[in-house]
Amino acid sequence: MSRREHMLERLAQADQAAFAAGGAARVARQHKQGKLTARERVEALLDPGSFEEYDRLKTHRCTDFGMAEQRIPGDGVITGHGTIAGRRVFVFSQDFTVFGGSLSGAFAEKVCKIMDIAMKVGAPVIGLNDSGGARIQEGVVSLAGYADIFLRNTLASGVVPQISGIFGPCAGGAVYSPAITDFTVMVEGSSYMFITGPEVIKSVTHEEVTQEALGGAHAHSSKSGVAHLTAPDEHAALDTIRELLSFLPQNRSERPPMQPTDDPADRESPKLDTLVPENPNKPYDIKAIIEELADDGDFFEVQGAWARNMVVGFARFGGRPAGIVANQPMVLAGCLDIDASIKAARFVRFCDAFNIPLVTFVDVPGFLPGTAQEWGGIIKHGAKLLYAFAEATVPKITIITRKAYGGAYDVMASKHIRADVNYAWPTAEIAVMGPDGAVNIIHRKTLAEADDVEQKRAELVEEYRETFANPFRAAELGYIDAIIHPRETRRRIITGLEMLKDKVDTNPAKKHGNIPL
Ligand code: HXC
Repeated sequence: MSRREHMLERLAQADQAAFAAGGAARVARQHKQGKLTARERVEALLDPGSFEEYDRLKTHRCTDFGMAEQRIPGDGVITGHGTIAGRRVFVFSQDFTVFGGSLSGAFAEKVCKIMDIAMKVGAPVIGLNDSGGARIQEGVVSLAGYADIFLRNTLASGVVPQISGIFGPCAGGAVYSPAITDFTVMVEGSSYMFITGPEVIKSVTHEEVTQEALGGAHAHSSKSGVAHLTAPDEHAALDTIRELLSFLPQNRSERPPMQPTDDPADRESPKLDTLVPENPNKPYDIKAIIEELADDGDFFEVQGAWARNMVVGFARFGGRPAGIVANQPMVLAGCLDIDASIKAARFVRFCDAFNIPLVTFVDVPGFLPGTAQEWGGIIKHGAKLLYAFAEATVPKITIITRKAYGGAYDVMASKHIRADVNYAWPTAEIAVMGPDGAVNIIHRKTLAEADDVEQKRAELVEEYRETFANPFRAAELGYIDAIIHPRETRRRIITGLEMLKDKVDTNPAKKHGNIPL
């Protein structure tokens, strides 16, 4: 055998060992659990044949606990780059069949290497997590490796989009990498995230809880808001990541990609003229409005099961992606509360970081009252949303469909905090507070002296509604740019986004602001 043949033979064997990962039995166990292997996930995520792997032969350097005899090429994580819909992305995929996907120093170096290149070339990073956490045999070397990744997650934040898929365990400090990334997608039934697991919880607080109930996809999509998206199986989760990327630019210097559509820019929506009920106390579904207005009725909702009084997600208008922020009158009458403020604030900041215009729909009766909200810090959390909208320099279009009351009017991308185009539907009510509350305060004496209190109250409410609870005052003051017919809203949004496409606005020079965290 020539030296060349020998080297080729050696390479083939090394590759084979890497492809065998943790061995047939562990791969079979993975499949039996309904899970793909790390390599299968990468193949399913990327365009066929596009994956360029790095460090396939890298191994750990640990010699304790008999580890010197256990070296598997790749060391439990598959890294590299490829394309999704023809656009470059960097990927790391943790391999549970190799030491439980646990993170060694070498493993961390592999992840850091692709993150560093992704930052330099300006391409998104997708991490697929399925790991027992820190490689116990490596001790503090593993903890250092995690910190190296957390640092890069932080430095990459706002530079390139970062997406985490949770495809198995993700526990302890390991959760902080996904937590810093922009979006976390969990697989229902087979993934979980927690800081401390059920055993520790039981010993410390005597609470009994299953892994699934504690940190499964349902818990994090509906209770904690940690998961942005969930999917019934791994293939669906990978499809979700691909779809999400279709709305995003590659990096902070790019614009989001246009997607041509046959949906006419001037399509009218007559049904919107009557969609908002005459009775201000009657709810309606804001998502029906968003879907009616978006290209091809396509709305990609994010965090749909958490803080449902606020709706956020992506849609396109005339092919141009936009981030949607909307109060949802169907839930808590669309009030702003702690969770809704946090949800929308983070979404607004993501869109602003990546040049994604914001389209905001307003129907908000105010902030949710109560001790739970006050003691929970609604003041500082509500301020997050105010801050996020105010500092955002991307194109901002706001449409008030009905209520815009009190501080919530200011917060929800009002003209005063630099929204570019503010429209109101004729059904809009823009005032310091709703008619009932206002009448009780400013006409207390009149009501106390009235013979028929209820009749007087009805008269005064009607008078207030006619004077203040409408869009005309705000239009006279220029706080809204036009009162528009609901049916023409799509055309107005598309024209607005087109007009604003080269908008330039800046914030004062500073190291960074101090958002009320
Ligand atoms: C080394 C590990 C490992 C780890 C699992 N394995 N976790 N090896 N370090 N952290 C190995 C197992 O020895 C086993 O090897 C294989 O992976 C599969 O593990 P099983 O236990 O058989 O799998 P399963 O029953 O599915 O249980 C999965 C699990 C469990 C729940 C994740 O493995 C587990 O509890 N692991 C330890 C989790 C943990 O405490 N990690 C450290 C947390 S602290 P063989 O050879 O038998 O196949 C942490 C801090 C992060 O992560 C710090 C960031 C700052």
